[in-house]
Amino acid sequence: IDELLTEGVAGRRVFVRADLNVPLDGTTITDDGRIRAVLPTVAKLAEAGARVVVASHLGRPKGAPDPAFSLAPAAARLGELLGADVAFATDTVGDSARAAVAGLTDGQVAVVENLRFNAGETSKDDAERAAFADRLAELADVYVGDGFGAVHRKHASVYDLPARLPHYAGYLIATEVGVLEKLTTDVKRPYAVVLGGAKVSDKLGVIDHLLEKADRILIGGGMVFTFLAAQGHEVGASLLQEDQIPVVKEYIERAKERGVEFVLPVDVLVAGEFPDMKTKAPANPTTVAADAIPAGQMGLDIGPESRKLYASKLADTATVFWNGPMGVFEHPDYAEGTRAVAQALIDSPAFTVVGGGDSAAAVRILGFDENAFGHISTGGGASLEYLEGKTLPGLAALEG
Ligand code: 3PG
Repeated sequence: IDELLTEGVAGRRVFVRADLNVPLDGTTITDDGRIRAVLPTVAKLAEAGARVVVASHLGRPKGAPDPAFSLAPAAARLGELLGADVAFATDTVGDSARAAVAGLTDGQVAVVENLRFNAGETSKDDAERAAFADRLAELADVYVGDGFGAVHRKHASVYDLPARLPHYAGYLIATEVGVLEKLTTDVKRPYAVVLGGAKVSDKLGVIDHLLEKADRILIGGGMVFTFLAAQGHEVGASLLQEDQIPVVKEYIERAKERGVEFVLPVDVLVAGEFPDMKTKAPANPTTVAADAIPAGQMGLDIGPESRKLYASKLADTATVFWNGPMGVFEHPDYAEGTRAVAQALIDSPAFTVVGGGDSAAAVRILGFDENAFGHISTGGGASLEYLEGKTLPGLAALEG
């Protein structure tokens, strides 16, 4: 946006597509990282006298207003962080939004309500998306794309709107792309990737790609059990994607051929049921060998031996990319695996990139200093798809 700032933005209405999709507990924001990440862009535009209109999605409401997904808490937090009054419109393109934008004076900021309260935002129908993008375009003179976490979505505000207005990339997108580009072009080796999260089906593309790039792939989270099953082990009542077993077997084979090391847990924490996330009541898990999970027991975190193993596999690396928690870290009994990986990244001399809404939130929620990591990406799916080498609609639209 430096180009835009040089042109001058005073008095112009600038639409900033941010990703304020923050985790909420009721109306309390449990991690405001994504709001802080877009501050440089919003603050700079406001300082330069722009009339800033900030828009974002939050969660996955069904194309209609739903108070559980209101952006109001995020707007309030943005105001606190900016140290300024931020107007909030209770709709996205309706009377409230138009009035909020019309009421802006130079240097002021307004946030409009959740983009996904409108079916046109996420529609697969080009005409429906275009119609919504036309209405968004009426709110502004210039578009700044800075919602890195959503650039992999072909949504109206991400993909269609930039084509309707002069468009620029914000500071966050520039930083994110700069870092991730390094991982795809001149990565320093050994390059280790830690992948966690529940479903292996969400990570297939990235694993496929990493088999050509990484030296070592450490697996954690719910995905572990599909890997263990692919190796012929019983996984009890653990999360299992049976239909993915053949794919995982093929990956294990290919990794062997290419000399890529897959690292799986040697022990896991198990319990008879999923912990109560509301009360966080003690779950009393037991530790078992990863190849001996008893029937009826589900694995919920990697075990103590695995923590040591993973730390040792990260100690001598030059680059680490980490996406996805190792266990159900939001429950204190299942946080140690994720904590150990975070600590290993901090202790390692490697350039470390934490990608993924969940793992980024995890390091902050577990109390780590985010400056101790090389880069914490605001993108989950977006950073994975970037690493896969896919064309991301929101980046392509900014280049066009
Ligand atoms: C994310 O949390 O990864 C982004 O905000 C995108 O959200 P989505 O997966 O609901 O599109």
